[in-house]
Amino acid sequence: MKQDYPFLISASILAADFRYLEKEIKTAESAGVDAIHVDVMDGVFVPNISMGPLIVETCRKITSLPLDVHLMIINPEKYLTSFQNAGADSISIHIEDNKVVGESLEKIKQAGCRAGLVLNPETSLNEIDNFLTLADYILVMTVHPGFGGQKFIEESIHKIQLLAGKLLSWDLEKTIQVDGGINTENISDLANSGAHDFVAGNSIFKHPKGILAGVKSLRKALK
Ligand code: DX5
Ligand code: ZN
Repeated sequence: MKQDYPFLISASILAADFRYLEKEIKTAESAGVDAIHVDVMDGVFVPNISMGPLIVETCRKITSLPLDVHLMIINPEKYLTSFQNAGADSISIHIEDNKVVGESLEKIKQAGCRAGLVLNPETSLNEIDNFLTLADYILVMTVHPGFGGQKFIEESIHKIQLLAGKLLSWDLEKTIQVDGGINTENISDLANSGAHDFVAGNSIFKHPKGILAGVKSLRKALK
């Protein structure tokens, strides 16, 4: 975690203009984002298909920022090694429809990556209880996964407060990451609720005044 910023901003390249991927990532980097978030979708776990290890490998050549890979795929355990070899620094897997959560989190960590556990808006916090000690970070989805540019689900705020309270009472120091519909309107409420790492796609890459302005306005709203 960076010392100068208590909060992390992770730029989701799903919203980037892929004609200029290198330039877009480099601009986000110079704007001071803390990580590049790569959304992997298989058209089965979520109703959309996006990118795979090749894009992670490409990002690795473009930037030295941490690459945060969010797997929205069935049987993610089969692909962990591919993403690790491609250069991922952190990998998150969903709890839904996953029978090998513990083993997968262990496998991610064994290769030196940070391991994240993700839960969808309709998934109860109790579902992750057994894996809280294993995960390095918990990603609370603030939209239904599958697409960028969706509206933030307000009920997520309460869920984050409950998760932050649970982590505190269990004496666990884990990063709470949030993903979906994050913008200048909701980012400070999310921070006050206990979130530390903010994934943003549209509010960075599709900001009307450009990437630099997008990152700057998120940082400003966080202060
Ligand atoms: C949604 C993805 C998000 C998405 C965020 O399934 O996991 O990372 O790209 O995009 P915005 O910030 O545009 O909602
Ligand atoms: Zn994501």
